[in-house]
Amino acid sequence: MQITATHKKAVDQYYHELAAYLEQDVTHETAVRSAFQNLLAVYAPSANWILIPEEPLANGKRPDGTMRDTFRLPRGYWEAKDSRDDLLTEVRKKIGIGYPTINTIFEDTRRAILYQNNKIALDVDLTKRDQLIDLLRQFFSYTEPDIATFEAAVDEFKQRIPDLAKGLLERIKEEHAKNAKFVNAFATFLELCRTSLNPQIGREAVDEMLVQHLLTERLFRTIFNNPDFTNRNVIAVEIEKVIQALTSRAFNRNDFERSLDRFYVAIEGAAKTLDNWTEKQHFLDTVYERFFQGFSIKQADTHGIVYTPQEIVDFMCASVEEVLQREFQTSLSAPGVKVLDPCTGTGNFVVNILRRITGSNLAYKYANDLFCNEIMLLPYYIASLNIEHAYYERTGEYKSFEGICFADTLELAEGQQPSLFVEENTERIEREKAAPIMVVIGNPPYNVGQKSENDNNKNHKYPVIDERIKETYVRDSDATLKTQLYDAYVRFFRWAADRLQGRDGIVCYVSNNSFVDQITFDGMRKHLLRDFTQVYHLDLHGNVRKNPKLSGTTHNVFGIQIGVGITLAVKSSKHTRRIIYYYRVPEFWRRTEKLTFLAQKGGLNNVDWTELQPNEKDSWITEGLRPEYSTFLPLLTKDIADLGVKTMSKVYSVGVHTARDNVVYDFDLAKLTERINRFITDYNTEILRWVAAERPSDIDSFVNYKLKWSEHLKGELKRERRGRLEYEHFRHTLYRPFCKKWLYYDTLLCDRPSLFDKIFPLPSTEIENIVICIPGLGNRRESGCLATNSIPSMDLAFEKARSIPYYTYAKDGSNRRENITDWALAQFQAAYGEQVTKLDIFHYVYAMLHHPQYRERYAENLKRELPRIPLLKERGAFDICVQIGKQLMELHLHYEQAPEYPLTWLENNDVPVNWYVKKMKLTPDKSALVYNEWLTLSGLPQECFQYRLGNRSALEWIIDQYQVSTDKRSGITSDPNRLDEEQYIVRLVGKVVTVSVETVRLVGELAKDVKQEEWLD
Ligand SMILES: C[S@@+](CC[C@H](N)C(=O)[O-])C[C@H]1O[C@@H](n2cnc3c(N)ncnc32)[C@H](O)[C@@H]1O
Repeated sequence: MQITATHKKAVDQYYHELAAYLEQDVTHETAVRSAFQNLLAVYAPSANWILIPEEPLANGKRPDGTMRDTFRLPRGYWEAKDSRDDLLTEVRKKIGIGYPTINTIFEDTRRAILYQNNKIALDVDLTKRDQLIDLLRQFFSYTEPDIATFEAAVDEFKQRIPDLAKGLLERIKEEHAKNAKFVNAFATFLELCRTSLNPQIGREAVDEMLVQHLLTERLFRTIFNNPDFTNRNVIAVEIEKVIQALTSRAFNRNDFERSLDRFYVAIEGAAKTLDNWTEKQHFLDTVYERFFQGFSIKQADTHGIVYTPQEIVDFMCASVEEVLQREFQTSLSAPGVKVLDPCTGTGNFVVNILRRITGSNLAYKYANDLFCNEIMLLPYYIASLNIEHAYYERTGEYKSFEGICFADTLELAEGQQPSLFVEENTERIEREKAAPIMVVIGNPPYNVGQKSENDNNKNHKYPVIDERIKETYVRDSDATLKTQLYDAYVRFFRWAADRLQGRDGIVCYVSNNSFVDQITFDGMRKHLLRDFTQVYHLDLHGNVRKNPKLSGTTHNVFGIQIGVGITLAVKSSKHTRRIIYYYRVPEFWRRTEKLTFLAQKGGLNNVDWTELQPNEKDSWITEGLRPEYSTFLPLLTKDIADLGVKTMSKVYSVGVHTARDNVVYDFDLAKLTERINRFITDYNTEILRWVAAERPSDIDSFVNYKLKWSEHLKGELKRERRGRLEYEHFRHTLYRPFCKKWLYYDTLLCDRPSLFDKIFPLPSTEIENIVICIPGLGNRRESGCLATNSIPSMDLAFEKARSIPYYTYAKDGSNRRENITDWALAQFQAAYGEQVTKLDIFHYVYAMLHHPQYRERYAENLKRELPRIPLLKERGAFDICVQIGKQLMELHLHYEQAPEYPLTWLENNDVPVNWYVKKMKLTPDKSALVYNEWLTLSGLPQECFQYRLGNRSALEWIIDQYQVSTDKRSGITSDPNRLDEEQYIVRLVGKVVTVSVETVRLVGELAKDVKQEEWLD
């Protein structure tokens, strides 16, 4: 680096600033470090670097400065220390906790230590001008030595991918603004992607494709000895055209490649010495996963980018071979047995199959019988390389694999596409579409759409497949919430069953296996047994949500939270009987144990299957279900419109689903009013902006994500429905058990307001009406129920809570009706006499839902079906139930009036009296509650923890909800402390303890006085 006059002046300025601080006796680091920071900022541009202060590293550490080059790669770090401490000791501490030492200056204004390549390279006296300049020169001239080994290089590359990719994206953005040639080429290519791949594909996705190509194309050429890669690959040729335009102006491709030399040269050099493809393939797999997880996170999520472990691929391919031989007397090697992997990723299913095919048939099979599709560019390249190499390994001949298509498999089912990218790709697709596929094998993605609309990462819609799902899996489902039936993996099942086109064949997937036992998938299970004759399912478990003691990384074969299983479904016209074979590996097995098991078994013939008998509700796993349950009275039906069904209640409602709880709920009415006002103003401004921009159709890319969007709200914006603050929309709600908040209840800001405009249409109805809230179906948490007289939220204590009201009304509050049906009344009166009222029945239901033996005995039924209520044999027992139900209900409805439990107040006299709660906590033995620094409430009766709602006790709900918390995303703070009643929370604790203890006592009485023999024969 040349030291110029500007540099020298900057050094003068540095000493000048330091002297000024010294004069005022300021020595602490936070103040004086600005002098060094200014100095670095002047030097950085000469090295084409920029200084970013306080940028967090991946490990959470935050050096005072990070230097990045024009490709956004970190080139150096600076950390200032306090001049009162010993610098070397401080430096060691910093290194110990993970500060980088690749090119790092540690300084304390008097001394500086420069680390380069993890060693001390300079130790200088900063008060000496020459030494300071030497330090800066050496720091800014530094380039990291080539990375020594392949392994280290790969590891390094993996970590750098996100930085490299982000840097490139910025360069591409610049060219979008300034390079007309690129803009044209890009527009043509984008159009091509829209007609060929996905009509909704956005510009960002195509930008990412360019990044994928630019970063990896060189590696494919060099490491894999494939100099012609970009000319031979039909898609790469097209992308190259856009890249040519991209690099025709200021973006110099050679310069760019040179900037990557540091790690590419090392990788390439090391790769030359590796003959073994496996190691190179490992590198490809790393790039595949890392690229997406570190950079294209949205794509990784939507498309399920994850590598399938080799043991699983092996087991599945072997199992397919076994079944082909046993059921169809044929083989993967036989000409004409056509195989398709619809979501090929790195192509490892096809590679595995290629290795199994007999040599004499290989050329034929390669050219005619093997097909795969991939929707993302990078895996498409990787799969081509891998498959072509696997063929080369066996034949010594390098031949392009024409069975791979760059296409969206599900889109292919959507009818005729005129052209799919380039002619060669279209031809390939035509050939694949015409092929009578016998085996579908692969690892489909899974993702039920985005979690929040603000992720702006919606899954693509497929009208044809989705309609097929609707007329089969959805139509035959008893579940209420069916969105999971459009999960990508379910679509791939539907598609595969249809892709066999009525012929005999096999579908073999490793996938999310929620369809095996969750209620929503009853229709899917029914159809799997219609479409196939034998279904094998090897349950690899690893469902962390079902068993929180498991860990995704340790126990799940994919390192995820959702249960995984291998399904092999056979359609054989020889069979008339439909059979399910099931095997489940031990729940607590670790990932490695599961993979070893698969390797040892080698294929499905060696697995010790259990035959499952599905019941009439299409449950496959019926363990724990009690048959008598179906004879009890249904409390409600799944379908409100289903008036023909005899149920105990006419109407129920799911809780309010807002999609923006942080925005529309608050403890404080004034704060909420202000926030809603602002939200509505911002939302109305968005409408004006949208109209002014001539109503662009791509609303997802248009809206400002400072607002909390949802699909519903975007729909309202498109309809240009303006928001208006209405004061009567501020309503009381029960947000969580024993936790009331204000809610702005309206149809614009709440995504699904449900039926509460008919249950609590006016505040006055809160005095007389009551709802019983119960868990929704498929609830994974514990059961429970809770009565309330205000609007309940959707996730009250149980997921997707449903509320059964006592009364319903017209929207203006008139026309009050009892919700218990006359049919139910007739049943109860026939059993217990004319005096029974509908209110008695309501109380009876509440007691039954609390009954410990009822809950325990029917736990499995309650998970799968809506509650059914047994009739008791004796009138006496019925009366007890009604009485206890009534007492429980009054206790829960009027919890704020309950007497406070006599807890002992331990006050800390060392701090001032203070009622403010930040976060309460229980002592480890749960005998006391630390309310705040000043107050501890001791003497908690242990039975109060037995009163549980969902996964917490009532008191733990209070602790959880009554804390000050700030939502990271929106910055909105929830503060439960009341200015008007500062002791509310402490008093509430005492009351909820009473309510808990009393509930436990009443439930105990119920269990003692009404035994389960009362309803069992
Ligand atoms: C779980 S990965 C497959 C992994 C592969 N078996 C391996 O080990 O490399 C799923 C792959 O399917 C691709 N994919 C997702 N949706 C697709 C679609 N609709 N059509 C074609 N490919 C798709 C994804 O890009 C991803 O690479």
